[in-house]
Amino acid sequence: MSPLAGLDAHAQRLAGSSIAGLVETDPARARDFALRVGPLYANFSRQRYDRAVLDALFGIAGRAGLAGAMRRQLDGEAINSTEGRAVLHTALRGEASGAPVARDARAQAVAAQARMRALVAGLEAGDVTDIVSIGIGGSDLGPRLVADALSLPGARFRVHFVSNVDGNAAQRVLAALDPKRSAAIVISKTFGTQETLLNGGIVRDWLGDDSRLYAVSTNAQRVADFGIPAERTLPMWDWVGGRYSLWSAVGFPIALAIGMERFLQLLDGAAAMDAHAADAPLRENLAAWHALTAVWNRNALHAATQAVLPYDERLRLLPNYLQQLVMESLGKSVHVDGSAVAAETVPVWWGGAGTDTQHSFFQALHQGTQAVPADFIGVLQADHPYTQNHQALLANLLAQTEALANGQASDDPHRRYPGNRPSTLLLLDALTPQSLGMLIALYEHSVYLQSVLWGINAFDQFGVELGKQVANRLLPALQGEGEVDDAVTRELLREFNARR
Ligand code: F6P
Repeated sequence: MSPLAGLDAHAQRLAGSSIAGLVETDPARARDFALRVGPLYANFSRQRYDRAVLDALFGIAGRAGLAGAMRRQLDGEAINSTEGRAVLHTALRGEASGAPVARDARAQAVAAQARMRALVAGLEAGDVTDIVSIGIGGSDLGPRLVADALSLPGARFRVHFVSNVDGNAAQRVLAALDPKRSAAIVISKTFGTQETLLNGGIVRDWLGDDSRLYAVSTNAQRVADFGIPAERTLPMWDWVGGRYSLWSAVGFPIALAIGMERFLQLLDGAAAMDAHAADAPLRENLAAWHALTAVWNRNALHAATQAVLPYDERLRLLPNYLQQLVMESLGKSVHVDGSAVAAETVPVWWGGAGTDTQHSFFQALHQGTQAVPADFIGVLQADHPYTQNHQALLANLLAQTEALANGQASDDPHRRYPGNRPSTLLLLDALTPQSLGMLIALYEHSVYLQSVLWGINAFDQFGVELGKQVANRLLPALQGEGEVDDAVTRELLREFNARR
């Protein structure tokens, strides 16, 4: 029987209850369903559950062995079983484990950081003004998010990102830059990714002088064949998943955008969350609360989607980043042993920055037929002088969580708000490298714990391979060579070729 089986009975018990009603009968939940970890505060009291549900969820967590699972990850067991790999991004940012495998990984990470520091210092001492980072997926989204969130006015470098194989991406970035004042980093764990190799080739040719070309990869041979020497290549390892890699040398563009010291502070923040996730008892464990809430919303309330709504312009790329982290990790329908999962796994994650999104999709959040659970993320201290804007931002953040939960009655059905829309509020005291590191690490650990609850492997991504294989097979046909088997694709190719 699924470990999640008992949840349906609770969902039925609460079917006639509303979030507002649950808070009214138990006002202390506003404080009791909240946790603080350093600069990060989380409040779960506007979720559609009560204390009995939490007892059931934490019971499930105990029986599923979440605490032991966390330890196995930190200790470097090969929990990515389909690929026989350890999952040790935690070793990139601290001493989370004394296990020999983890210590060995940590030593490699520290040595790579020293090399990265030297490369950053070398570039800072030169006359380069712009950095072009080329990568995709996990080799792009994390650096892009953190550089965008934390770079300060007057930063030493402007850092640009090219990911899409669409040539417009490279053209737009390069058009504004001077190749003589630019350096580029080609980031690819495998150094076999089509998009990155094509864009890397464009940028290598555009630079002209390849002494300003750098690489990050596990595959030193492919990097050398591409024309980047070992002294300008930083390592990656198969014990770091792409979507968990911003803490490694994949974060080279981050270190250039925000400085090496602040990059290390980002790692410190993540390490603090690692210590919390590993050591806090389940009932006080923020990663466990977050994961159990996700499972409740998906498996008991059957929410098909989950919104993530940062109320801070600097975190506008967080939804994009989390889409890969969460959906590439949890978009699975078989258990670790290959048997079909009975429970629904990951919902579709989507979102955008408040308050812009209030004027786009919030109508559907308030009055659409689906209740969409949301993570609202706010930052309490402003780092700009526009006090009134900041107060308005925070008022909107508070207002939306309240309005979605409580709704509003009206005789006019068009003006009625049903409410009962669950949300979690995550608040950072300020947006610093440490607090952002903590926030991202929280999501990483929540994702892993969700995977344990669902019995799936969060660390492979075979689902992305088929499309790549078909594209490789079709490329010759687009170039006018080779046969195509599929009747629809054949017809579409005819249309492509007639109109191009
Ligand atoms: O999208 C599939 C994927 O394999 C991701 O998991 C990975 O982050 C991305 O492609 C890029 O891979 P690489 O770093 O090897 O270029």
